[in-house]
Parts: sequence; structure tokens; C-alpha cells
Amino acid sequence: MIPEHIAIIMDGNGRWAKKRSLPRVFGHRQGVKTVKKIVKSVSRLGVKVLTLYAFSTENWKRPKTEVDALFSLLSRFIKKDLKELSDAGIKLRILGDLSKFPQDLKSEILSVCKDTENNTDLELNIALNYGARQEIIKVFEEMLKQGIKKPTEEIVSSFLYTAGQPDPDLLIRTSGEFRISNFLLWQIAYSEIYVTDKLWPDFTPKDLEAAISEFQKRDRRFGGI
Ligand code: IPE
Ligand code: IPE
Ligand code: MG
Repeated sequence: MIPEHIAIIMDGNGRWAKKRSLPRVFGHRQGVKTVKKIVKSVSRLGVKVLTLYAFSTENWKRPKTEVDALFSLLSRFIKKDLKELSDAGIKLRILGDLSKFPQDLKSEILSVCKDTENNTDLELNIALNYGARQEIIKVFEEMLKQGIKKPTEEIVSSFLYTAGQPDPDLLIRTSGEFRISNFLLWQIAYSEIYVTDKLWPDFTPKDLEAAISEFQKRDRRFGGI
């Protein structure tokens, strides 16, 4: 079975650049190229939802020059490449708090989301200024606001950024780190985790296929026998 939802922690851009004695931003640039290739191949495989972790709430700790470079790459990706992807039937959703983003980037993002809302081939979630704990706090706030005193799993899920989407079946992390780094804590309760040593800029559609075929060998029991 092809996973319905794949989530990826795209890690290792900095190390890719360091190995080549290049500034870290070169790794991020190369990482964007990988994003384009992987989005296309995921879409061809018939996956319903792809979630990419692009910028965490903790990534603000990085030097301002790196944060600025990341945002300028993102903004170019959203303006240019996503338009192209949207013609390919991709629907964009942003997971994360956009409220502190520059106004022009915010409007650009919202307009791409709107333009692609009727696309049905692949839902592409980009986690941007995203933190799973912050997302869960947002759920608590929403429940308090609506006076909900008896939460259920369905109610909680309906207030998450991923509302209406299936939980990830497969979670991939590149660059060999065995940690979650505040990504989708609620949604990955039963995801199959796949860690590869490949750095994100080196990750290819073949590596994606390898991850999927490993996933297909897993015995998912969901607590049963
Ligand atoms: C992932 O690559 C991209 C972001 C977190 C934005 P890193 O920049 O974390 O690369 P490493 O982990 O330092 O190699
Ligand atoms: C996770 O990578 C965040 C993204 C890929 C956007 P990090 O590089 O920020 O994670 P840590 O710091 O190694 O946990
Ligand atoms: Mg990293």
C-alpha cells in the first residue's frame, strides 16, 4: 500500500554545504531543488498528503542572516515554483503561525492557498514557523474560546492545522538524527518512522521509493496483535 500521508523532516542542508566548504545558505538552495523533485515524484505516486517541515518555531534561534536567507528562498519558492506546482494539481496548506510574517509574504501565501484550494491531486502542507507544542496550545485556546468542556480525539484533531487530513503513515527524517524536533506530535502517534543518513540536498526520488518500500514491509499493529 502506498502511504496516504508522508511527512518529511528535511534536515542536513547545513551539513551538505559544510562538506563542500560552502556557506550554509548554499545547502538551503540545494534543498529547495530537492523539494521540487520530491513533490513531483510524491504526486506521481498517488500519495494524498505530503507534509514538509521547512522552518520550526525554534529555528528563529539561528543567526539573522541565515533566517533572512531562508525566508527569501521560501518566498521565491512560493511565488515562482508553487505557481507551477499548482498547475500540476497541487493544493497548498501552511501549517504554522503566519501572523508575524512580512505582510507581502503572507498575502502571497494566502493567495496561492486560495488559488489552489480546488486542486485534488496532492495536498502539500508546508510547516512554516511550526511547532507541535504551539499547535497543541492553539487547540486548547480554541476549545476554551468555544466553551468545549469534553474534548474528544476528533475535536482535538479538528482544531489542528492538519484538520480534515489523515495522520501521517510514514515519517521520514534525513541526515541521520533520531529525533522529532517538535514536529506533528499529536499526528504521528502511529506513524512509521524512517531515518536515513542521506542529507536532504542529496535525497532523491529513489531514496523516497526505498523509504516507501521499507514502510510496506512494516507490520502496523496499532496496539493490536
Ligand atoms: C534543514 O537543514 C533546514 C532547516 C532546518 C531550515 P539544517 O539547516 O538544519 O541543516 P543541518 O542540520 O545544520 O545540517
Ligand atoms: C528540524 O530540523 C526543523 C526543520 C527541518 C525545519 P533542525 O535542524 O532545526 O532540528 P534539530 O535542531 O537538529 O533538532
Ligand atoms: Mg538541522
